[in-house]
Amino acid sequence: MQVLDKSFKLYLDAETIQKRIAALADQINADYQGKQPLFIGILNGSFMFTADLYKKITVASTITFIKLVSYKGTSSTGTVITSIGLEENISGRDVIIVEDIVDTGKTLSEFLPSLQQQQPASIRICTLLHKPEALQYPLTVDYIGFNIPTKFVVGYGLDYDGFGRNSEVISCLEE
Ligand code: IMP
Ligand code: MG
Repeated sequence: MQVLDKSFKLYLDAETIQKRIAALADQINADYQGKQPLFIGILNGSFMFTADLYKKITVASTITFIKLVSYKGTSSTGTVITSIGLEENISGRDVIIVEDIVDTGKTLSEFLPSLQQQQPASIRICTLLHKPEALQYPLTVDYIGFNIPTKFVVGYGLDYDGFGRNSEVISCLEE
């Protein structure tokens, strides 16, 4: 697959992604029985994953989205900007943050303190993809779809300079 000036090869097919999401949803449904979690999807990247995961959530719950930005091209700019903030009051809520990918961990570790200030009952992180070898910030990721090597991926919501999100598969940069 070609995205702008780079070529990518298939890494995770649609069936593999959907099966794993169903398993994650089962786990979350079991863990949150009797609770009413609030899902917070992190835009833009997590919109597809959040939608597919949330369709499979059976516990009573609510959902909202915020927008955090830290990437330009194929590497992190190191600055996290909140461009759409949180409107909900999360005090006393069981919060589940839904991310497309945890890379260095900077985005979430900078964002978490502002959530913790509001004293939610709990905060857990659910990410479709995780690059464990790239992690540079202390962050506990509770639900992980796939651990992947430190390589740049696109598709299924993930972009390269804004492009490539509209693919039902995940592809990896060819080197
Ligand atoms: P972190 O702050 O370094 O953990 O970066 C997290 C954010 O960077 C994710 O929410 C993605 O939007 C973006 N990101 C990290 N790795 C990739 C990648 O391989 N492809 C596309 N976006 C990525
Ligand atoms: Mg993201």
